Amino acid sequence: MDIRIEGLTKTFTGKENKETIAVNNLTVTIPSGHLVGLLGPSGCGKSTTLFLLAGLHEPTSGKIFFGDEDVTGLPPEKRGIGLVFQNYALYPHMSVYDNIAFPLRNSRSFKEEHKDAKERRAAIDQIVQHTAKIVAIEELLDRKPAQLSGGQQQRVAIARAIAKQPKVLLLDEPLSNLDARLRIQTREEIRRIQQATGITTVFVTHDQEEAMSITDEIIVMRDGLVQQVDHPQETYIHPANVFVAQFLGNPPINLFQAEARGGWLIVNGDRAMATVLADGHYQMGIRPESFILTGDEGDGTFNARIEFKATIGRDFQVRFDINGHFSEALIESDQHISEGDTVRFALRRSGVHLFDQDGKRIEVW
Ligand SMILES: Nc1ncnc2c1ncn2[C@@H]1O[C@H](COP(=O)(O)OP(=O)(O)OP(=O)(O)O)[C@@H](O)[C@H]1O
Ligand SMILES: [Mg+2]
Repeated sequence: MDIRIEGLTKTFTGKENKETIAVNNLTVTIPSGHLVGLLGPSGCGKSTTLFLLAGLHEPTSGKIFFGDEDVTGLPPEKRGIGLVFQNYALYPHMSVYDNIAFPLRNSRSFKEEHKDAKERRAAIDQIVQHTAKIVAIEELLDRKPAQLSGGQQQRVAIARAIAKQPKVLLLDEPLSNLDARLRIQTREEIRRIQQATGITTVFVTHDQEEAMSITDEIIVMRDGLVQQVDHPQETYIHPANVFVAQFLGNPPINLFQAEARGGWLIVNGDRAMATVLADGHYQMGIRPESFILTGDEGDGTFNARIEFKATIGRDFQVRFDINGHFSEALIESDQHISEGDTVRFALRRSGVHLFDQDGKRIEVW
């Protein structure tokens, strides 16, 4: 079931009637069965969007549809959603089994569907066993939450959320309490569970790598405004603006002012790259992996003095100046390069992005 969001706005009024537009006129469709990442820095409106989808906040304006149904006015319990938050809040005194069964035991519609108490118990048992298997915790059903690792607790929270067979799964930074290794494992599991169940899922995170690795699409937000909705790789390859370019990628893109003059982009005084752009000043972004060391000294290359070099795995990370800006490149470590060297770089076009002075992408190749 798809989710259609139309002109969704949420304004909070704080002290002295100061208004915060947490979500600003959001219009987007999340296709049925997709896992969509809601990505952006702290305070950009991710959780507010999720709360609006859940029915925990009332929108200032706009509409939300689950499939053909307008759910904008429906309370959370009538929306058929599963929710998982950062602090997974399992009931500490209950076993894992009871934690997963609890929402079913308390569901009025489930009681109506299974009137006979014995039959209901059997139906609950079947669902708990099945969901526990999906999230791979069937060995842990007798334990209490305190006897589980963070990742296991997280999986219990997900099992509890999907046990009610929600139409929509909403996850708000579900991995932020986990250590690095467990984060990666658990995010892959979320993806596996999501694909096994086919539930349309919105996954909120401020971690670009997390969003890139498991989603079908990413919605990048800033100050309540959508910046780009795209396939994860596309947001990296074709960032719509400077903000998206800078937000995605680690190490981040190198960004500086560059001049176009007579068909060339001038970098460090050299004709670094041929261009069809009109003469003038542009914002130029270069991905760290797009610098190529070259012996060539002619047009199409430029000068840089290496100020710092570190070996990180199979790459060198080197620092130098571009047009007065601190810049970083990743170079394969079989290359010979030392601190203090002045080298020539050529650029890989696919990693070079140009923006106007307002930060909007200019398509030039
Ligand atoms: N209940 C509220 N009352 C007033 N302002 C709020 C409320 N909830 C959120 N805001 C404001 O709305 C904006 C968006 O907040 P939101 O929680 O959606 O951000 P977020 O993207 O989830 O950030 P984070 O990554 O830090 O969780 C922020 O400026 C925040 O201060
Ligand atoms: Mg949040």
